[in-house]
Amino acid sequence: MDLQLQGKRALITGSSAGLGEAIAIMLADEGATVIIHGRNPERAAAVASSICKRGGLAEVAIGDLSTDTGADEVGQSALAGGPVDILVNNAGAYEHFNWTTALPAQWLKTYETNVLSGVRMIQRLLPQMRARKWGRIITIGGGLATQPVSGHPEYSATLSARHNLAVSLARELKGSGVTSNVVAPGAIRVKAVEDLLIAAAPKYGWGTSWEEIEKGAVADIVQNDIGRLGKPEEIAGAVAYLVSSYADYISGATIRVDGGTVRTVA
Ligand SMILES: NC(=O)c1ccc[n+]([C@@H]2O[C@H](COP(=O)([O-])OP(=O)(O)OC[C@H]3O[C@@H](n4cnc5c(N)ncnc54)[C@H](OP(=O)(O)O)[C@@H]3O)[C@@H](O)[C@H]2O)c1
Repeated sequence: MDLQLQGKRALITGSSAGLGEAIAIMLADEGATVIIHGRNPERAAAVASSICKRGGLAEVAIGDLSTDTGADEVGQSALAGGPVDILVNNAGAYEHFNWTTALPAQWLKTYETNVLSGVRMIQRLLPQMRARKWGRIITIGGGLATQPVSGHPEYSATLSARHNLAVSLARELKGSGVTSNVVAPGAIRVKAVEDLLIAAAPKYGWGTSWEEIEKGAVADIVQNDIGRLGKPEEIAGAVAYLVSSYADYISGATIRVDGGTVRTVA
């Protein structure tokens, strides 16, 4: 199958680690030039270099997307090498707050990092996609957007906002040749999630090996039909499909990649 990504340029925000890194590797393997982004230059450069070593094309853009100036820097770096055809709004952060500890300042910070980060990049990159009459904007959402739990409410709310804005954007893009869609992961095994689960293990009595912790987490907090956490490349596969020509007729949609964690029909 040829996803027809040869010659396309893709900015994947937050691709210096985790899901973004896996998405960047897959899009580069499919022939796209990928722009690796994060706040930490060394980590981003290491991912870009590993992609180049496997024969891919990778550039780097650095900046804090929770600020306008950081987003300006990222937009300028990304566009310096040519137009950007594909924007994957993936950068984001999640921490362990609850209804007592998540104070308004934390809600605002999380909104800046997880929602306005994506809005900023859309506003900087969409005009040139519209002008060229082709583009793909993917928003990484999550199961907590539609099925929140009691913990980290400030984070779940940002996922809902991401899902919502991506559909609004799809309507705005009517007839433009640019589409907007969501990929909604369940709990995916990246280092940040491993760290959270390892820290939670004593409270739940899951044991100490990763196998015990994953089994306990699936039983107690991320119940799903497949019986494990997801893999980053399973998210990358959904993104690769949505940015390919096979998804020309899809806009305003959500693909869940969560093993069946979210239980609703729609
Ligand atoms: N993993 C999951 O189970 C899961 C499930 C649902 C949704 N998600 C969403 O998927 C996205 C990626 O998550 P992940 O698990 O891969 O997390 P991760 O491993 O912690 O990676 C987060 C990435 O975002 C970047 N980043 C964080 N804050 C930033 C900021 N203010 N400005 C610019 N870049 C920033 C980080 O780079 P630097 O640290 O270098 O800045 C890093 O590259 C997040 O938006 C998350 O909400 C993840």
